[in-house]
Amino acid sequence: MENEFKEIRPEELKDNPFKIIGKDWMLITAGNKTHANAMTASWGGIGRLWEKDVVFIFVRQSRYTKTLLDQESGFSCAFFDHQKYLKELAYMGSASGREEDKIKKAGFSLSFEKEIPYLNQARLVFICSKLSKSSLSEETILDKKILTDIYGDNDFHHLYVGEIKKVLIKE
Ligand SMILES: Cc1cc2nc3c(=O)[nH]c(=O)nc-3n(C[C@H](O)[C@H](O)[C@H](O)COP(=O)(O)O)c2cc1C
Repeated sequence: MENEFKEIRPEELKDNPFKIIGKDWMLITAGNKTHANAMTASWGGIGRLWEKDVVFIFVRQSRYTKTLLDQESGFSCAFFDHQKYLKELAYMGSASGREEDKIKKAGFSLSFEKEIPYLNQARLVFICSKLSKSSLSEETILDKKILTDIYGDNDFHHLYVGEIKKVLIKE
């Protein structure tokens, strides 16, 4: 069902972060009420930092989502039933919002928490406010094999730490 979220506290979350991020993937949604975009991400984490509950997301320089992330103070992370939404998740992870309205094309719709957009079709959503951004570069990567394996194209990730302001879940 759409739009039937209830709010829980982060510590009530039963999901395994390795599974929901690494295996099921998340959709990072950025933008505002006028214009929003979402992209698939399978690298990142959730945890605790600076006395806050946080998410860590890694977004490459080339992503259109990065442009929108930098323009706004918040973003959301949405988690789906992987089997049911595999086609949409793969699409959001290959097409770019620079060229098309991916949210519409995937058949998704948005709600807003203040100005922060999130996807109605998700089963779990984190509403986040940006706490910090740091940019990976050759110097920050200590294991040089990662440079050749992952960053041969110099398209480095930016690490955004977002405070989880709300956890919305469907039961
Ligand atoms: C399974 C999967 C996981 C991905 N994980 C990430 C990620 O963690 N960080 C990232 O920058 N791109 C990741 N991508 C690539 C982006 O989702 C992809 O480049 C997307 O088209 C960017 O869309 P945008 O230009 O609309 O932002 C992933 C793609 C897939 C299919």
